[in-house]
This record gives sequence, structure tokens and C-alpha cells, in this order.
Amino acid sequence: MPAPIISDLFASLDDKAPFSSGSDTADSKEPSIDFVAGIPDYSLLPRKDFGQAAQELMDSDDSFEALRYSAYEGIPSLRRAVARWRHTDVSNVFITNGATQGIFLSMSALLNPGDTILVENPTFPFALKTFRLFGLQVETVPLTGEGVDLDALESKLQSGRQAGKRYKALYTIPDFHNPASVSLPGERKRALIELAERYDFAIIADSPYRDLWFDHQPGEFPQEQRTAEHDGRLLEVGTFSKTLGPGWRVGWIITDRVRVKQLTSFRRRLDAHPSGVAQSIIAHLLDRPDDWFARQVDYERAAYRRKSELLYSALQDGVGDFARIIKPEGGYFQWLVFDERHDPANPDRAKALAAANVHLVPGDVFYPHDHGSHAARLAFSHLPEADLVEGTRRLAEALR
Ligand SMILES: Cc1ncc(COP(=O)(O)O)c(C=O)c1O
Repeated sequence: MPAPIISDLFASLDDKAPFSSGSDTADSKEPSIDFVAGIPDYSLLPRKDFGQAAQELMDSDDSFEALRYSAYEGIPSLRRAVARWRHTDVSNVFITNGATQGIFLSMSALLNPGDTILVENPTFPFALKTFRLFGLQVETVPLTGEGVDLDALESKLQSGRQAGKRYKALYTIPDFHNPASVSLPGERKRALIELAERYDFAIIADSPYRDLWFDHQPGEFPQEQRTAEHDGRLLEVGTFSKTLGPGWRVGWIITDRVRVKQLTSFRRRLDAHPSGVAQSIIAHLLDRPDDWFARQVDYERAAYRRKSELLYSALQDGVGDFARIIKPEGGYFQWLVFDERHDPANPDRAKALAAANVHLVPGDVFYPHDHGSHAARLAFSHLPEADLVEGTRRLAEALR
């Protein structure tokens, strides 16, 4: 396949997001309840601490580092803080403009336009948009209750090999999947790396929700991959968007040291580096001696867990007789699979939901090629508890 011409890609772009947040439905009397946006509860964010850290930074000599052009791979203090938090070596950490850029840079490091990328079915639609913009072919691997289906992946790799087809990369969301909320346990992470070694492909592991576990911290990829010098198989994409707010635009990639250097050299030509001010404020907070970040994340975890449990039990009462309700163990999302008669994408049901002014994401947008999932994603993260209950009441009534 010929490489796409970038200017043609630009010309063909539309501004439609894969889905948009619910806005008030014109003729509904009810105020809108928006289960769409995958955003934090802004009331949980420590704005006072942010302000104080910003002031301290600007009053100190470190303001110089924050305001000047700085290291392409990210400022040293933030790389150190991320390495400490994520239990790796500072030389394996590369700072990004959020996970979105982490996905873009990982893809750019591994693939050429025309190559095929493997993704889970379902997957995160904004990543799909990036892959398609770059001119990649997308093929899918099923998802199980424990993350990507390793048997199906192996069969695909095997038949690809027999047909002379090369898969260079898999994009996966291993912890508290968006949208399906499932996680790949530690031993399956190790098995995935073994597959990657056997079939010679790399793994882009996008994990924005990892810190927001409810009862159990998710298992890690093998540590030898996370601290590799070279020839690693793994690019772990992380972000502060879900814990400190997406407006910071600060995230990271953890990968082998040679690849960190390659990313640095690529980034030098692309956008230089993420905001030094944002990086410095976050580094300052993560360096506080009072375990500031661990305490902040604990506090958020408890709040999201409460919201998730409330929504889960309201849904069991409201739609339990016609939907499979997958219990989240962390993250922001509740995934539901309805029976065909109660599919929210059915035009009559969609009309009833709009009239009730309750908004969700119909499941099909998460499937690159398939239709008819009868599924839906509900974000519980940002909604007040009363809205979770009232939203479920309206949802159940509209779908019945
Ligand atoms: C799976 C996944 N990857 C990446 C992102 C984007 O994160 P960021 O705001 O850090 O770019 C999101 C946010 O919704 C996400 O759910």
C-alpha cells in the first residue's frame, strides 16, 4: 500500500470526536445527566496544593529551569519522580504531553504508514483515530474478562506468520480497560511478553487508570522489560491526566534505554518538550516529603470506588434483568452488555434516552470493524453520587 500523503490526510480530517458529551436535549424537562465524558471529578483535585507549588516554584531558582527550553526527554526531577513512583530506572523514563502523545510517539517509533497494528476488540477510539490518521491498517484481537485473549492472539500471529504477514505491534490497555474495565493479571502480562518475543512484535501498553485501583493493585509487566537496556518489547504509556487532571498534559513512556534515546531524538525535531512549567510543578509535588502523591491517589481511589459501587448496585436493581453488568475493579468506567431488545443503540431506545436527557456512549464506537455489540459505556468518575442514582433510574426507565 502506498504511504498516505500527509496533506491529503489533513484535508480529509473531520472534527467529529468518536463520541461527544451529552448536552441538554431541547425538549426534555430533566437536567442532563452525562455518563459520556471520561474525566476526573474536578472537586477531588488539590487546587490549593497546585497553587502553592506554583508559587513556591516561581519564587525559587528552579523557575529558571521551568521557564527555559529544557531537556527533550523531560526534566530530570520529573523523570526521577516518575521512576520512583513506577519502580523503574530514571533512564527508562521519557516524559510526554499526556498519554495521547505517548501513543503517537510509540506508534511512530514502531510502525510505518501501511503497516498493520493489532488492537483489542473493543478498544479506545481516540487511539484508533491516531492509527488511522497515520495510515495504519487495524486488525483486532478479542478481549476476555482477563484482558487480551492470548490464545486468539497466538492463533492470529501463527496464521500471519504462515501467510508471510508481519505484525510489528499490539496496542493494549492492560489495566482497567477503556471501555471494558477488565485487567490483564501479572502472569498473563508475562505470557504476553513471551509471545512478543516468540513472534517478534512490540507492545504499546496504554495504562492511564493504573493508579486508580479499588482493592488490588494491578500486576506489573516483567521488571526485566521495564528496566531493559535495549531490545525491549514494551512501551508502557502513563499519564497524570486521570489523577491530577488532563489540563497538565503531562505523561510518560517507560521503555528500554535505547528507545528512550530514539524518542528523545525524534521529539527534538517534533515539539521539543512538554511544558517545563507543568513538569516542574508536578515534580515539586511528587518530591514533597509527606508522600503527597500517594495520599492524593488514595483519596481519589476511595472516592471512585464509592461511586463505582453505587452505580453498580443501582444498575443491578435497574437493568440487571436485561444487561450483563461487568463490575469495575478500578478506573473510571462501567461497561454493560444488553440483550438485543434493550440495546441503547436501537433507534427507539436512543430516542427514549434522549427524551430522558441521559447520555451514554453506545458500545459500537469501541469496535473498529464490528457492529451490533448491544453494549454501552458509562463513566461514573465525574458525576455526583445523586446523579449516578438518578441517571440509572432514567436509563432503566428509557430502556424498558
Ligand atoms: C485508554 C486511554 N488512553 C489515553 C487517554 C488520553 O490520556 P491523556 O489525556 O493523558 O492524553 C485516555 C483518556 O481518556 C484513555 O482513556
